[in-house]
Amino acid sequence: MSKIRVGIIGCGRISDLHAQGYLANSDATIVAVCDADLSRASQKASEWAAEKAYGDYRQLLADPNVDAVDIVTPQRFHEEMAIAALAAGKHVSVQKPMTISLESADRMVAAAAKSSKVFRVFENYIFYPPLMLARRLIDEGLIGEPTSMRIKFISGSGGWAVPESAWAWRSSEHKQGFGMQTFDHGHHMWSVARYLMGELECVSSWIDSVDGVIDCPAIIMWKYKGAPKYGVCDYSHCTELTIPSDYYANDEWFEVTGSRGIIMVNRCTGKIVGGPAVRLFNAGSWTDYDIDSDWAAGFKGAAGNFIDAILGRAAPALSAEEGREILRIDLAIQASARQKKEIRLSEFVDTGA
Ligand SMILES: NC(=O)c1ccc[n+]([C@@H]2O[C@H](COP(=O)([O-])OP(=O)(O)OC[C@H]3O[C@@H](n4cnc5c(N)ncnc54)[C@H](O)[C@@H]3O)[C@@H](O)[C@H]2O)c1
Repeated sequence: MSKIRVGIIGCGRISDLHAQGYLANSDATIVAVCDADLSRASQKASEWAAEKAYGDYRQLLADPNVDAVDIVTPQRFHEEMAIAALAAGKHVSVQKPMTISLESADRMVAAAAKSSKVFRVFENYIFYPPLMLARRLIDEGLIGEPTSMRIKFISGSGGWAVPESAWAWRSSEHKQGFGMQTFDHGHHMWSVARYLMGELECVSSWIDSVDGVIDCPAIIMWKYKGAPKYGVCDYSHCTELTIPSDYYANDEWFEVTGSRGIIMVNRCTGKIVGGPAVRLFNAGSWTDYDIDSDWAAGFKGAAGNFIDAILGRAAPALSAEEGREILRIDLAIQASARQKKEIRLSEFVDTGA
């Protein structure tokens, strides 16, 4: 079987982990890369052994040797690039959040529905092995009926080098009302909330700032659809804390409580909490699971899902509709904090930030 020939658009900070995912996949090969900064594209092409480097994404889309594109640019470019890629007959993966408004998401969903190609929104947290294990333990009934979920997010200093340019566009979106942590990063949290416990019905949030820059502390609460089930995510930014991490200077941990047990996922991006990555408490004792808890593993899984979806071996995750739903939650959370009120998702009208 011939390999799926992937083109990566956007060669910034996070593209390295996308590339690792395709390089580790025996059914994929990276054939082309593109960045508005052509010298960056050329450098990545040589690192990832891609034949072509382009400075304009339209040139990459015109390349007949590219079967599938992975769009890894800032979100304001996602709609234009994703729709053009589908029109050029490419399979499309686009980083989360899929875009920055529901109107724009609707246009992407419609283009995906019209196309025979795979379209999916890239979400690595639902392919993070400890969270996948948590989902399996829930599905196997080991904690009974899940009733509540707690997520802790913490950021500080340390981790890998992030170029100033990667903060610049986030900072500009942040000023337009799309919180750097609670919106851009928040997408992962609401994806996990949904992945582990189902559809959300309403959200309520406080979003503040200790330094006038980062949108933390924040407390975000949600109710699940049609049942007495709740979740809360507590965001802290610790200005004097160095986070042990091989990636961003942040970490998350998760706890799901059910009618007869508890599951803890003790780390994700970083390594603040030592010991087993996953712990299950039921029938009066703890079971520990020492599984791969490297954050990059989620990227390998997400890259693999795109290739499997193209080969007809898996459903694309997230689908266009799921990506839109998580964007709706993300936007409603920002609106709840601004309007100081609970928002029912079914009544949410996106009037912009
Ligand atoms: N899944 C995750 O955990 C995760 C983590 C970080 C970032 N992201 C997402 O990935 C995307 C990229 O984030 P990043 O941190 O790598 O940003 P970045 O700023 O480091 O990289 C973006 C790259 O896109 C390039 N670019 C910008 N406009 C372009 C254009 N018109 N044509 C071609 N290239 C263009 C830039 O030159 C830059 O190299 C964002 O959507 C972000 O939210 C996801």
